[in-house]
Amino acid sequence: MGADPKTHGRLLPWLEHRVGLEALRHVVEAKTVPVHRHGAWYYFGGMTLFFFLVQVATGILLMLYYRPSAAEAYESVQFLVTRVPFGWLVRSIHSWSANLMIAAAFVHLFSVFFLKAYRAPRELTWLSGFALFALALGFGFSGYLLPWNKLAYFATRVGTDIAGALPIVGSEMVRFLRGGDHVTGGTLSRFYGWHVAILPALTTSLLALHLLLVQRHGTSVPPSVEREQPSGPRTMRFVPDFLLRDLFGWTLALGVLAALAALFPWELGEKADPFAPAPADIKPEWYFMFMFQTLKLVPGGEIAGIENEAWAILVFGAAGAAAFFVPFLDRRVVERGKSPLVSAIGAVALAFIVALTAIGYHAWWPVGAGAVLVLGPWLAGKYMAGTRGERR
Ligand code: HEM
Repeated sequence: MGADPKTHGRLLPWLEHRVGLEALRHVVEAKTVPVHRHGAWYYFGGMTLFFFLVQVATGILLMLYYRPSAAEAYESVQFLVTRVPFGWLVRSIHSWSANLMIAAAFVHLFSVFFLKAYRAPRELTWLSGFALFALALGFGFSGYLLPWNKLAYFATRVGTDIAGALPIVGSEMVRFLRGGDHVTGGTLSRFYGWHVAILPALTTSLLALHLLLVQRHGTSVPPSVEREQPSGPRTMRFVPDFLLRDLFGWTLALGVLAALAALFPWELGEKADPFAPAPADIKPEWYFMFMFQTLKLVPGGEIAGIENEAWAILVFGAAGAAAFFVPFLDRRVVERGKSPLVSAIGAVALAFIVALTAIGYHAWWPVGAGAVLVLGPWLAGKYMAGTRGERR
């Protein structure tokens, strides 16, 4: 059945007058994406966005049953997974998607770093993206405690204790994070506030800025491709060519997410007991493991009156700050040249993160996962650079 020409004839001019659809159509039609051998990395920002949207949808559903108090949190999650139809699946999707979102954001961060997409005029895109990554870690840290189970309770105690090792601000930081001197029901309420109100509000605002900047500057061309093809690489239209490929990626992501959530339902474990002895196998989420493991390997003692552990935290802080300000530290920005030192430091950081994670888990899977995430898109990029749908 075709559209009623009368309605069609009146609705579009009505909308055009109020929204300005023509202008939007011009923007969409003008948008193109470069085609070259590194093209597969362009899909990871969109994939991070996909997992974020899944988080928002499933998070709202979880809020309908969750109760943020030490007396009721564990029981409310237990009720959700055992009594509410598909409650277990919603919780499992939320937990798996959180991990996949952080993995996708990791790949996105490192790929824009190595492709030097942070260079002028995209400094603010990088800074807003970096802040989004920190917020994603905040979501992970605050969400971990919410089921109020044993492992999460003790991991939060250890995690917040680490902040206490910092000189001068340490004890205030711990009180700020915990809402008191200990991890209690008060900490749980506080983490819930961060998780469902503060972090979503900050993330949504920053995401709007990030995407606006991506739209403003278009997709960058890596300097290596610019040097090989000074007149610029071929391009493909964003709508429909890139968008359809993006949607194909989202479909794959949904398949992986659904399989993981259904075949490996997220566990709940035992209820937290603050008076029980700490279990021997306390471990943080995998994305904090490299820092946790580094601190475990640092020998006791102090240098210049500051504990070695505090030094290690300060070094992590300095490395994070250097990464944040990399658009202003990479001195080759102007001539679009190579900056092998910056790339080498990034490669060492990546190798360090993978190695320390593998040591932390006494397993090789972090190395395998790292290899798949580096080699997979690299091979896919080589393949896609030769596919149709592009124009000069
Ligand atoms: C919630 C987290 C994030 C979301 C949803 C997100 C989303 C996106 C999207 C959709 C794009 C356009 C497609 C692409 O080039 O991949 C993009 C581009 C970009 N993002 Fe992110 N991003 C996030 C985090 C980050 C992080 C952690 C960084 C780095 C610190 C970052 C830096 C950039 C840069 C520099 C670009 C421009 C890339 C280019 O023009 O080639 N983003 N982001």
